[in-house]
Amino acid sequence: MIDGKTQIYGILGEGVRESLSPVIHNRSFARMGINAVYLAFETHDLEQAVTGLRGLGVRGASVTVPFKSRIIPLLDDLDPFAERIKAVNTIRNEGKKLVGYNTDWLGALHALEQQVSLKGRKVLVLGAGGAARAVAFGLKERNCAVAIFNRSPEKGRSLAEEFRFEFIPTLTGNRKGFEVIINTTSAGMHPNITDCPVPPQLFRAGMTVMEIVYRPVKTMFLQHAEQRGCRIIPGLEMLAGQGAAQFQLWTGRNPDLNRIREDLYSAANHTAPTIQASNQHSLRGEHRND
Ligand code: ATR
Repeated sequence: MIDGKTQIYGILGEGVRESLSPVIHNRSFARMGINAVYLAFETHDLEQAVTGLRGLGVRGASVTVPFKSRIIPLLDDLDPFAERIKAVNTIRNEGKKLVGYNTDWLGALHALEQQVSLKGRKVLVLGAGGAARAVAFGLKERNCAVAIFNRSPEKGRSLAEEFRFEFIPTLTGNRKGFEVIINTTSAGMHPNITDCPVPPQLFRAGMTVMEIVYRPVKTMFLQHAEQRGCRIIPGLEMLAGQGAAQFQLWTGRNPDLNRIREDLYSAANHTAPTIQASNQHSLRGEHRND
């Protein structure tokens, strides 16, 4: 029940009325008996929004497109991971300080590692924005051999140089050798549901293919990959993982990740794919939680 002691959390971004993050957090608060609420704050003036967080004592916020980098100078402190990634998807109000964190990389690694062991794999990352930076950081931690492709080559080249990854200026269906392909671009997102960021011939049987778009749940990118015999990981998996890590940061408690997955798939009118029990492991507590 909402009362005078209810703590407030929310998501800052554009287009967040369609976000599924409120499903993650509100259902987990309710299940765990935590007196808190998570709201969608549609934001067009980021400075004013951050002033509002401070002034109203909002306990924590998710940050999404297009603010993951722009928020950094408005915060008081950055967690070392967010500092290295140069993108923030989570704010925690630590009394007098707003501190920026990044849980996207944890969500991405968790989603991938439920299906495949990453160490030393040859991975293609599509995109060079904030989400690509978090994914690239996670893959670097696992010593993957990564290649970056981006629609705007100069941005792709600069991300590849920063992480000492290979840069691919043009991508054809003949390119061989990838074991994992990850889409971090918004190509294929509703309403552009027929877009696919790679030539479908690139997909080969046995590859693992992960998506970060979750509207629709099975994008054209995933449909092509599945038709060609790849193992697919929908965008809801990374969403669930990054959200569970945020919840941990804010409340100090571990939410039930499998219930979060079920909540998300059911909110999107899908059935959650079963993850083999041996592959279910909790998110590693990488962040300090003081
Ligand atoms: P985010 O924080 O979600 O990563 P972003 O920083 O705006 O968002 O980055 C979006 C990424 O998706 C960029 O790599 C962008 O490519 P450009 O650098 O060329 O803009 C990519 N992107 C967006 N729409 C795309 C599309 N229709 N096809 C291919 N790439 C696209």
